[in-house]
Amino acid sequence: RIFKSQMQCRFDIDRLNAPFLAIYDSLIPTEEEKAKQNQLFTLLETLITKEWPEAQLYVYGSCGNSFGVSKSDIDLCLAIDVADDNKSEILLRLADILQSDNLQNVQALTRARVPIVKLMDPVTGISCDICINNVLAVINTKLLRDYAKIDARLRQLAFIVKHWAKSRGVNETYQGTLSSYAYVLMCIHFLQQRRPAVLPCLQEMQSTYSVTVENIECAFFDQVDKLRDFGSHNREPIAKLVWAFFNYWAYGHDYANSVISVRTGSILSKREKDWTRRIGNDRHLICIEDPFEISHDLGRVVDKYSIKVLREEFERAAGIMQYDANPCVKLFEPYVP
Ligand code: GTP
Ligand code: MG
Repeated sequence: RIFKSQMQCRFDIDRLNAPFLAIYDSLIPTEEEKAKQNQLFTLLETLITKEWPEAQLYVYGSCGNSFGVSKSDIDLCLAIDVADDNKSEILLRLADILQSDNLQNVQALTRARVPIVKLMDPVTGISCDICINNVLAVINTKLLRDYAKIDARLRQLAFIVKHWAKSRGVNETYQGTLSSYAYVLMCIHFLQQRRPAVLPCLQEMQSTYSVTVENIECAFFDQVDKLRDFGSHNREPIAKLVWAFFNYWAYGHDYANSVISVRTGSILSKREKDWTRRIGNDRHLICIEDPFEISHDLGRVVDKYSIKVLREEFERAAGIMQYDANPCVKLFEPYVP
């Protein structure tokens, strides 16, 4: 049956390449928008360095990892030598400074799980969150950005998957579905697993970049300009990859036993991670290993209700890719409860 469906897919899937690429093009931010983001970053950097000359401001999240759609908020991290207990003080002072410079809606959320200052820039209309010393996020942002430079199909696939997840309401961690970060890792892993592979495993290669943060050694090959031809043996176009991605998560993944791991470029077993049972709130119903915090399962937010929702959405998407006359519309139809 699998053989038959693959034949069927090869037969007419290529008709969907152009419409999927058109959707991708419509989602990427314009140069003008990126210039505005840079303008706001420079302003904030200037204000911050005036107050704290040794501090550094970094972009992380979708504006830094190249997986951000148009009109995304900017996530920033202020790296500063401060004890955890004194973070609130810094955030409150930062909020004061920003307010005095006419930035709008400035709010210090000092009691949040990740304490931040929020703001909106009236000149560019861009909103922004600033957190303190979330350095691992800055490094995983670089890892994702480096992967994106290797093969254009990663960005195409991830934009389409993120757009699908947002349309279908399955990109909401507070409702037990997955973060954008988790979806991008799923896409990277999937492309590492294609045969021939579309992406290498940068953390298994000779490292050219290495930093130690919170006792975690983060090391990988980052001279990605040398890997521009890596995926050229695999000629699968975007529509085939979208089809295969949803098929994998609908019918190919072994939810009971497997962990996907970008770090090793392979599938690990839940047994070797000791992720076989619920511990506290971590149920491990879908297992996605963080590339650096390897005890961290990005599927930990998924519960016994939302795993059903997720898997039904993967099956719906796979079915549409296989049988629908117009998948590029149907796939992204908003979920209506
Ligand atoms: P959108 O805003 O939805 O476009 O996506 P995003 O790329 O900004 O993703 P998200 O809001 O999910 O996360 C923002 C960034 O925080 C990610 O790019 C990661 O760098 C970091 N991050 C998110 N979740 C985790 C996590 O569970 N562990 C770690 N270490 N970092 C995370
Ligand atoms: Mg974000």
